[in-house]
Amino acid sequence: MKQTIRVSVNGRLYEEDVEPRLLLSHFLRENLGLTGTHVGCVVGECGACSVLLDGKVVKSCLHFAVQADGREVTTVEGLAKNGELNPVQEAFVKNYAFQCGYCTPGMVITSYALLQHNPNPSEEEIRKALAGNLCMCTGYVQIVEAVKEAARGSKNG
Ligand code: FES
Ligand code: FES
Repeated sequence: MKQTIRVSVNGRLYEEDVEPRLLLSHFLRENLGLTGTHVGCVVGECGACSVLLDGKVVKSCLHFAVQADGREVTTVEGLAKNGELNPVQEAFVKNYAFQCGYCTPGMVITSYALLQHNPNPSEEEIRKALAGNLCMCTGYVQIVEAVKEAARGSKNG
């Protein structure tokens, strides 16, 4: 039987009737059309589906949509403001930190969350934070460089 949930996603409140087994990742993509959140492994390994739930990174394939009831979700679509990319997104573009781009939304969300609570991470801290996000294309070097650059940018204001 469907359940009504109220979820704030990227600052907008949605009220939807969902099956209790509907995954948060599928809810975001299929019910709300927010296809920036990618779905890869669906078993919590790849991190492509990473979003923020009440400000903390979670793998949305490991959560049911009903678990987001009354909570706040931020997806990669929610990072740009007034048509301007978030500095993390800009740094990914500038540093060529993607190839196919499949992992990129998850990488960006996780990097954004890292910089929110640690604006000056060491390379080790960046790599540790991104350990749950897999990239099949790059050697991670450009991704780490992008996060470093975004961190420098956030320090410069
Ligand atoms: S799709 Fe969720 S971790 Fe891979
Ligand atoms: S850029 Fe292709 S999986 Fe990361």
